[in-house]
Amino acid sequence: MIKLAPSILASDFNILGEQIRQIENAKAEYLHIDVMDGSFVPSISFGMPLIASIRKNSKLIFDVHLMVEEPIRYIKDFKEAGADIITVHTEACTHLHRTISLIKENGLKAGVALNPSTPLNSLEYIIRDLDMVLIMTVNPGFGGQSLIPATLSKIKDMKEMAIRTEASIDIEVDGGIMISNVDQVLQAGANVIVSGTSVFNGDITQNIVEFKKKFQQY
Ligand code: DX5
Ligand code: ZN
Repeated sequence: MIKLAPSILASDFNILGEQIRQIENAKAEYLHIDVMDGSFVPSISFGMPLIASIRKNSKLIFDVHLMVEEPIRYIKDFKEAGADIITVHTEACTHLHRTISLIKENGLKAGVALNPSTPLNSLEYIIRDLDMVLIMTVNPGFGGQSLIPATLSKIKDMKEMAIRTEASIDIEVDGGIMISNVDQVLQAGANVIVSGTSVFNGDITQNIVEFKKKFQQY
């Protein structure tokens, strides 16, 4: 099943609660939450207090994307704030296996994200422990960037790797995904679609309807 994960990085924080309700009513599956530390990525976004606050009013699955150096330091905090899925960057973890194990010990789903230039073979010995792989389709750090075309063949290769290794994982894609190019990532084999700008610009409900129409073809 294909899932939509609207990224609140593109929301209007003045009316965040209202916009999350719209997302929930339009039946998006996940809420994608981008945490940036100003070190792993240039920008700083938000952290645990915001997640804990929105957790009180939402039953959506919280898909927390940690763009944070050594996220192992904060796994417990994000669990307590309300995360359901935690994705960490392989480039940010000295001990990736230990980090993934800690996420799972906390009863959460675990994902690993790869920057556009990071090869898939970095997943070879960890893939069977994962629930999700996040193929970044832009360099992480900002919303509203354009999808890097070379990442499309990487998604295909990821799908083949999942089949070859018999790993039952979700393949999430994140960055620059719009109604007009979502077909390309779906054809390549992605099944969890993050979108910020294209969900929050204009009519949120209508945008989600348009994405879901596309998903029905797969
Ligand atoms: C980029 C973030 C993305 C971003 C996507 O660093 O991980 O989740 O919010 O936003 P759009 O869809 O606007 O590229
Ligand atoms: Zn993200």
